[in-house]
Amino acid sequence: MNRRRTLITIGALGVVGAIAAACFFFWPASIEAVQATDAQQTGSALVAKGEYLTKAADCAACHTVPGGKPFAGGRAFKLPFGTIYSTNITPDRETGIGRWSDAEFVRALHRGIGRNGEDLYPAFPYTAYALLSTDDVLAIRAYLSTVLPVTARNADNTLVFPFNQRYVLRAWKLLFVPTRPWKPSATHDAAWNRGSYLAEALAHCGECHTPRNLMFATKSSRKYAGAVVDGWKAYNITSDSETGIGAWSAAEIEQYLSSGHAPAHGSAGGGMAEAIDLSLRHLSSEDIAALARYLRTVPPQRSELAARVVRDPGTLNGATAWSPGADRDESAGFQVFASACASCHGWDGNGQQTGNAGLRGSRSVNDPDGTNVVRAVLEGIKIGALGGHNTMPPFADAYSDAEIAAVSNYVIGHFGGKQGNVTAAEVRASRD
Ligand code: HEC
Ligand code: HEC
Ligand code: HEC
Repeated sequence: MNRRRTLITIGALGVVGAIAAACFFFWPASIEAVQATDAQQTGSALVAKGEYLTKAADCAACHTVPGGKPFAGGRAFKLPFGTIYSTNITPDRETGIGRWSDAEFVRALHRGIGRNGEDLYPAFPYTAYALLSTDDVLAIRAYLSTVLPVTARNADNTLVFPFNQRYVLRAWKLLFVPTRPWKPSATHDAAWNRGSYLAEALAHCGECHTPRNLMFATKSSRKYAGAVVDGWKAYNITSDSETGIGAWSAAEIEQYLSSGHAPAHGSAGGGMAEAIDLSLRHLSSEDIAALARYLRTVPPQRSELAARVVRDPGTLNGATAWSPGADRDESAGFQVFASACASCHGWDGNGQQTGNAGLRGSRSVNDPDGTNVVRAVLEGIKIGALGGHNTMPPFADAYSDAEIAAVSNYVIGHFGGKQGNVTAAEVRASRD
């Protein structure tokens, strides 16, 4: 059995190697002419359409350094084998994409190929953008041509051999990049189809929420079942009722996606808060409803990442906004919560001052591993929609690893009714 598996593996590697070699010599560097359909808008209507799509596709999340000039690139992506940087996609003619033809731009988004024919790394999510219609890509291009040109040279990547050889990506791309744009499904209505296009092609939800295989491609058999991204758990968002969002109403999903908060389900942090801030909260209510509609039909999958959420743990019995009730002790975690957190979060799980700080029912405080609790405490959460008021501040510099582990376990115990198992060593590791 084992021997058979080894042979299959060697065989598979051989095939991939052969494809890679073939690609190296026969890769079509061709470029197809592109043209919009007759339905495409023109002039300022086209630019407005492109601006909306650029937000829905969240190009800014990766091509703008927080606090930096829009679309000037330079954001670092740390991979196991080195660091790569996003590029300048402003219309600057020397350092940006000002001289690119429309055809070159479409080829980059659909096939992950740079202006000089080089293969681009899939940290640029062209595996999703390959599904965009050519009209939509051209609209994005039209909008990007109107943003302020910024002179900013692209940073040099620091990948080790063989990953610094871009052509090694070719076999991977043959296997994992869709070759055709997204197609509507005849068995679903227009709203569902719009939601599917938004989720799959534009907003690339699967880039974070779908686990990856050994070749670092998303596993289609485990679509949206949850994955770890930048130290955060991007939870299971299939319709599984326990470990996914099957128990959320459409209205709750809509509220979460458009504001980052859903009463009774907690808040968005990490990459999700950023996606909401830069992208999803700018979408029309019809588009948000379409997304929720589509999400609720994604087949259920169980996930080991997420624990079952208990909304009314016994530990909250008798608690009020101002008092922990009977769940009081002299532990270090309790002390930190009382002095640094209770003024915003309160003790009964419904939030103090703002319901946004409600922790009752949040997936994060129900997870004994406390992965997202630790990240939220270390780095804070900033959802710009709120204008910076009463949002979650970072505590990385305020408390030691042991104190952050203790307060995380207290929060998991009090609001989730579970035994948290966060250690100081894990907080230490999460800091890096
Ligand atoms: C998740 C992060 C991410 C998102 C979202 C993203 N990009 Fe990128 N993009 C990158 C990275 C990283 C690179 C550099 C890839 C490389 O060097 O191989 C890149 C490269 C590019 C390039 C090639 C530029 C060059 O100089 O070769 C273009 C064009 C581009 N992106 C356009 C876009 C557009 C348009 C959007 C939105 C529709 C977008 N990107 C969204 C990360 C991202
Ligand atoms: C200034 C008010 C404030 C303080 C102080 C504060 N928080 Fe928060 N916290 C919030 C808000 C508001 C949110 C919801 C996200 C947002 O809007 O920023 C939040 C979110 C969280 C989350 C994420 C919840 C989820 O559903 O994923 C956790 C965990 C958390 N806070 C724990 C703590 C802990 C532990 C402390 C003390 C060390 C603390 N907070 C201090 C306001 C605060
Ligand atoms: C950049 C990565 C990223 C992208 C892109 C992303 N998410 Fe998330 N998502 C996360 C993370 C991380 C969390 C956990 C947030 C937390 O606990 O504070 C999350 C949480 C969620 C939740 C809450 C799940 C729960 O059980 O609490 C929903 C719903 C969700 N995402 C839907 C979506 C949808 C729909 C899209 C696409 C439109 C999307 N996400 C795109 C990273 C991402």
